Parts: sequence; C-alpha cells; structure tokens
Amino acid sequence: MSREKVIVNEVGPRDGLQNQARSLSPEQRISLIRALFAAGLRHIEAGSFVSPKAVPQMAGADQVLAGFAPQELAQLSVLVPNEKGYALARAAGASRVALVLSATDTMSLKNIGMDAAKVLDVARGIIARAREEGVIVQGYISVAFECPFEGAVDPAVTERLTDELLVAGAHEVAIADTIGAASPAAVQALMRRLVAQHGAAVLSGHFHDTRAMAVANCYAALDAGIRKFDSSIAGLGGCPFAPGASGNVATEDVVLMLEACGMDTGVDMPALLAASRLAQELTGSAPGPRAQGWFRKRYAA
Ligand code: COA
Ligand code: ZN
Repeated sequence: MSREKVIVNEVGPRDGLQNQARSLSPEQRISLIRALFAAGLRHIEAGSFVSPKAVPQMAGADQVLAGFAPQELAQLSVLVPNEKGYALARAAGASRVALVLSATDTMSLKNIGMDAAKVLDVARGIIARAREEGVIVQGYISVAFECPFEGAVDPAVTERLTDELLVAGAHEVAIADTIGAASPAAVQALMRRLVAQHGAAVLSGHFHDTRAMAVANCYAALDAGIRKFDSSIAGLGGCPFAPGASGNVATEDVVLMLEACGMDTGVDMPALLAASRLAQELTGSAPGPRAQGWFRKRYAA
C-alpha cells in the first residue's frame, strides 16, 4: 500500500535565519538551500523581501534567488510584507510568495507597521495581482493562538482571517503558532474546524518549539487532517518582533515523527542530517533537532 504523502515546507532559510546573530551571505544561504534540495525537500522558503533596516539578515534575497535555475525557483517561496516587497520578489524571479497577517493589531504594528485591517487590505491587492500573474500565494496567520503583547487569541479571529484570505484568493493559509504557546488540544480543535470548513488541501501548520510542544502540535494537526507542515532545519528560528519566541520545530524531528506515523515525506534522512550539520556550522547557534542524540547513534551522524 502506498503511503500517504505529507508536504514538509522548509522555512529555515527565512524564518530560521532572520533571527540569528550571525548574518549569512547570499552564497552561504544558497549552499544551505542546495543541501535542503539534496535531502528531497521540494518546498523551501528562501528568504524575504523586507526592509534590510528591519531584518538585516535577509538582505540580498534577490542574490539568493539568482543562484537557482527556473525549475528550482518554482520550488522556492519568499515572504513579502507589502506591495514593494512583492514587486522586488517578482523582479527577482519569485513565483511563490508568503504574506503575513497577524491575529492581533499590536503584533501586526510591531511586525510590519500596519494594523491587522490595513494588512488585510494590502494582502487583498497583492493576491489579486498575484492571481493575474500566475503567482502562488500562501497567507500566514501569525500569533494564531497567542500574542506576546495581547495574550490569548480568540480562535474565532483566526478562523475569520483564514476565511478572508481564502475568499480573497490565497491558495493556502498557514496557521502559525509564532511564539510556541499553543497546546495540542487547542491545535486539534482549531484545525478540525478549519479542515471542516475549507478542506485540508488549503491549510498548513507552523509551530514553534518554545515550550517543547511543537512535535505534539504537529501530530495534533496531522490527526485533524492537516497534511502540510512548516519546519526549520536544525530547529533554527525565532521571530525578531515576537519576544520570547524560540525556534521552529526542527525539520529532522517532524520528518522523523511523520515517517514513524506511516507518512511519506520524500525526505532522505542522512542527506537531511548533512543539511542540519551545515546549518549548525554556518550559524554557530542552531539548537539542532530534539532527537539529535538518537540521530547520531542511528545514522552515525
Ligand atoms: N523591502 C525593502 N524595503 C522596503 C520594503 C520592502 N518590502 N518596504 C518598504 N521598504 C523601505 C521603504 O522604501 C523605505 O525606505 P527609505 O527609508 O530608504 O525611504 C523604508 O523601507 C521605510 O518604508 P515605510 O513604508 O515607511 O515602512 P516602515 O518603516 O513602516 O516599515 C516594513 C515597513 C514592512 C518595510 C518593515 O516593517 C519590514 O520590513 N518588516 C519586516 C518584518 C519581518 O520580516 N518580520 C518577520 C516575518 S513575519
Ligand atoms: Zn515562525
């Protein structure tokens, strides 16, 4: 019997690197993305077109994209916060973009200088343009469960924003626990409702590991029907605008869990561990996967 496929969307080169003390050069970021491709990953967030004053680590995203052939570029997405970012991303050859909406106004203002309603307005314009240009749009609901400034988020808010993005024409929506505060019970309840309303094909989960619950949260979402997950090589991550957020769930740990549950991620573990070592060497600060000790024994990695 063929195993059910699950998509792992690698966000280390963007969500992971944007918060590291050491800024990697475009060449170093290209080498990391190449190592991730070599591991079989086919959805990779390569960077963001944001103000280099706001996030210096992401400067030169155009040079990163320039390192790839057209068929590789089609597998890379980039984050864009506004129209200017979208235009720059398109000029650099991007055909997949991620837009971020925050569930609270305070987070939205701190992150991209606009309140949630204004960001939604801007997002609608970008989505319409992207649709005309054949660009794939993934919308994010940041702080979907809890905000570092405003506290617990009413699930109805996240549901409404998800609906708004899909109605506007976004191809999919990622539900993001930006600060790693969600519980598996909350994730399962919200994801079940969203899957019932929209179907799993347009949804994905994005979990941070601040309270060591990210793998459990991925499992809760999987159980609710979700078949696409963001993760970050070597557990890199943290948001510069969300105090207290630690890294994303490590790609190695998510792949291990999904494969153990009988899912097919298409990822080659030894090659993924090589990419993980590269990420740890390049940054000097990547925490590594939670199962690092076990991986070392099992793969002599
Ligand atoms: N890429 C590069 N530069 C951009 C830009 C973009 N997408 N959008 C705006 N800018 C530039 C403007 O041209 C202007 O440049 P100048 O100072 O040389 O004239 C400067 O940034 C300020 O523009 P303004 O429109 O006043 O925006 P702002 O200062 O309110 O900043 C953002 C808004 C969105 C550019 C900024 O907050 C940002 O880049 N945030 C990124 C947040 C992020 O990456 N978060 C993590 C992912 S969720
Ligand atoms: Zn994140």
